[in-house]
Amino acid sequence: GKYNNIIFDKKDNGVVLITLNRPKALNALNQELCTELGDAITNIEKDETVRATVITGSEKAFAAGADIKEMSSMSFMDVYKSGLFGPLEVIPRARKPIIAAVNGYALGGGCELAMMCDFIIAGDKAKFGQPEIKLGTIPGIGGTQRLTRAIGKARAMELTLTGDNMEAEEARQSGLVSRIVPSEQLVEEALKTAQKIASYSSPIVQLAKECVNKSFETTLTEGLNLERRIFQSTFATSDQKEGMSAFSEKRKASFKDE
Ligand code: HXC
Repeated sequence: GKYNNIIFDKKDNGVVLITLNRPKALNALNQELCTELGDAITNIEKDETVRATVITGSEKAFAAGADIKEMSSMSFMDVYKSGLFGPLEVIPRARKPIIAAVNGYALGGGCELAMMCDFIIAGDKAKFGQPEIKLGTIPGIGGTQRLTRAIGKARAMELTLTGDNMEAEEARQSGLVSRIVPSEQLVEEALKTAQKIASYSSPIVQLAKECVNKSFETTLTEGLNLERRIFQSTFATSDQKEGMSAFSEKRKASFKDE
């Protein structure tokens, strides 16, 4: 295909499975991989037949971080001018849902990539951490902000300052991941979840996602106002009429994205 570092697998049910594919480097995020991933998400956003995406890695590693070998000799100006990791910014900005299916190591940029997605489903052997401190640097793709919002200051601070990893079970208890499944069922479970989301009205899913995300950006009053207005606006759609009629008529709704 078109990509060297990821596998882009478009299913016929509106779901895309993206597999990070640099097994020899534990899926370390080099610039080419980031560019490809950004390009893939940009295309998904434009493709009306895609309704949900799963990003996964391998059983050993979701991604063991940014590519240390590629970064090690860069100067400030190299890092600054290249907008290193800028291509990944389309992920948190995407309107369509993106699920991270994490097995094995999700460290540094790998943990940050997973946290850029809408939610994380983890295999029982997943490990999360921000080990940048051990390399003489700090998280640079959102780790200090998103991990802290996800699990709270005390533990996020401890993990960021020690570089220690967190196991899947703790990640679930602390709210970083939505649930844990046996490693070997991870991708299948994530695809099933994506398929369920893809069966609903895609624009309504996008509105729901927008409202949840707004809770991180605004006051409660403003967030509640936005939610109420968007809730009201769904009554201008055919899909809301279809969804509620189907319930009354005891049949499955057939959404038209209208
Ligand atoms: C480049 C990496 C890599 C990385 C692993 N590899 N992680 N290469 N960048 N982040 C390579 C190894 O060099 C090795 O290549 C191969 O992958 C297999 O890794 P091993 O270390 O041999 O595997 P193992 O002993 O099982 O240890 C796994 C590991 C360890 C604990 C995950 O690889 C590790 O600590 N990796 C680095 C984790 C890390 O520090 N991540 C944060 C990166 S900084 P060879 O050629 O020797 O076989 C970051 C910054 C983000 O993410 C923000 C920037 C803006």
